[in-house]
Amino acid sequence: MVHTQSQVPQPLGVIAAMPVEGEAIESALSEPVAHFVLGRQVISGLLEGHQVLLAYGGVGKVNAALAVAALANAGAAGVVMVGVAGAIAPGVGVGDAVVATDLVQHDVDVTAFNNPPGYFRAGLAGGSADPDLSDRLVMAARSIGAVVHRGCIASGDQFIASPEKSEAIADQFGAIAVEMEGAAAAHACRQIGLPLAVLRWISDAADDQAMIDFQEFLDQVTELDLKVVQALVAK
Ligand code: ADE
Repeated sequence: MVHTQSQVPQPLGVIAAMPVEGEAIESALSEPVAHFVLGRQVISGLLEGHQVLLAYGGVGKVNAALAVAALANAGAAGVVMVGVAGAIAPGVGVGDAVVATDLVQHDVDVTAFNNPPGYFRAGLAGGSADPDLSDRLVMAARSIGAVVHRGCIASGDQFIASPEKSEAIADQFGAIAVEMEGAAAAHACRQIGLPLAVLRWISDAADDQAMIDFQEFLDQVTELDLKVVQALVAK
């Protein structure tokens, strides 16, 4: 693994689930080269002189795990996941950033065998984010003026649009935001041995309004993602 003086892993893998979440990063890459790795496109290039490998992961946990595998295969030394999430804790508002301390798959249900929700027999279906890379991501987000919260992010193959469901996930896991990929990336990164940090911009409150708020926020996310990754690698 190569580290620059900045200590941000290089090449840095960046995962955006949806094209809208990554297209400004892609446009900002100098010397971009598109590769096809494990069936998906990975774009290599330089951002602020830092080697970056950008993958559009696709929506959902399986896609996120495959995107990590593709980035590892392409030589990434660490992974940062960006994009949007729904807030499920008081005080976390639309436009704020959430940086994961840990991540859990909230939709894992082996309760029939007396495991708590979110647990396989082997333990919690989730993992921790890398503390150092996450600290750097927090500093990068603050440096561009973001309000940053740190805490557990809960991931599932579900778009959460109900206050009851949000409350249940918050109570069960102590999570502050929900999205659809992070915990799968955490699992894959742990298995492969790559540091991971996840930053999500809050697009909605995972309530009855979530679909509308989510759509409206998407216009802003591409620039926010670019700014935070630029600030991260420029440090
Ligand atoms: N990503 C953004 N908002 C979300 C929500 N409410 N549920 C799941 N993923 C999301």
